[in-house]
Amino acid sequence: MPNLPTVKSTSGLLRTLRMFGSIVRPLEFMERRKAKYGDFYQVTFLIFFTWLQKDWGKYSPWGRFLLIKQEIRTLIYEEIEDRREAIANNQSEYRDILSLLLMAKDETGEGMSDEELHDELITLLFAGHETTASALTWLFYWIHYLPEVNRQVHQELDSLEENLDNMAIANLPYLDATIKETLRIYPIAAGTFARVLTQPMSIRNHQFDTDTWFMISIYNLHHQEDIYLNADRFMPERFLTKNYSNYEYMPFGGGNRRCIGSALALLEMKLVTATILSRFDLALVSKRPMLPVRRGLTLAAPASFKMTIKAKKTAS
Ligand code: HEM
Repeated sequence: MPNLPTVKSTSGLLRTLRMFGSIVRPLEFMERRKAKYGDFYQVTFLIFFTWLQKDWGKYSPWGRFLLIKQEIRTLIYEEIEDRREAIANNQSEYRDILSLLLMAKDETGEGMSDEELHDELITLLFAGHETTASALTWLFYWIHYLPEVNRQVHQELDSLEENLDNMAIANLPYLDATIKETLRIYPIAAGTFARVLTQPMSIRNHQFDTDTWFMISIYNLHHQEDIYLNADRFMPERFLTKNYSNYEYMPFGGGNRRCIGSALALLEMKLVTATILSRFDLALVSKRPMLPVRRGLTLAAPASFKMTIKAKKTAS
């Protein structure tokens, strides 16, 4: 395999990632907690049962959830306070989301409250971080599980000049198709959020009352054989030969409440992949096929999944 050009112009990516600098502290905190306490910091699906939402101390599901929630709240409020102070004293060199949100004013000149800032950061943390990280894990798995996919992704990256710019990476057709297929075969969100009828509705002679809940199963849709031939096979080329409609392919949901971060997530995945593959050699530890597990509301790679990573030798 020829050496890939080193991607030098990742300033856009770094800028993007720095934008999220403000959520790094809570993330690092959670990682440290997970390393120390293991599964204790894994919130279980039991918290979704209303009758279990009782605080019976830190060893009960709800009690543990409240404890973690409070710890994360405290960290985020500390971060907001530090940054407010730094901006007030002209000491902040940050250009990330938190600084931008802190400096934003509405039409009456009013800024956001700490509570509002907290909620925005939590949204970015949970809707934007975990999803994209899981999608990247799958992407690296598929690229290294299937030699033909690996060959084609590397060939395409090799074809780029050195000092390539971010848009060149974003427009690579095979990388784009591989990412789309990654999000098709194991969609990170197995279903959309619920939609609730505000008035009665009939769909194909089925009558539904007001207040009926609907959730679209993205996983089932993406595995329909009449839409995706050999739906259980990973085949990026299907996205090179066909444009799927919004009703056939929806890793980011659909309609008015479609994911607001979809464009950012796709760009981030492309830039991260190109950067990592150009600098490191990765390999799967096990050659066995990997099946998804449920993590919170997402479908993710199992915690046992491992890859090795080695810096590429640079030509001197
Ligand atoms: C690969 C990465 C991602 C996947 C697979 C994904 C998937 C989804 C899905 C399926 C929904 C529900 C849409 C619906 O019910 O129709 C959603 C909603 C949402 N996502 Fe993402 N997402 C990703 C990345 C991001 C990022 C990077 C951000 C923000 C930076 C983000 C922010 C949101 C928000 C705020 C919502 C709620 C939108 C609303 O209710 O109006 N997501 N996402």
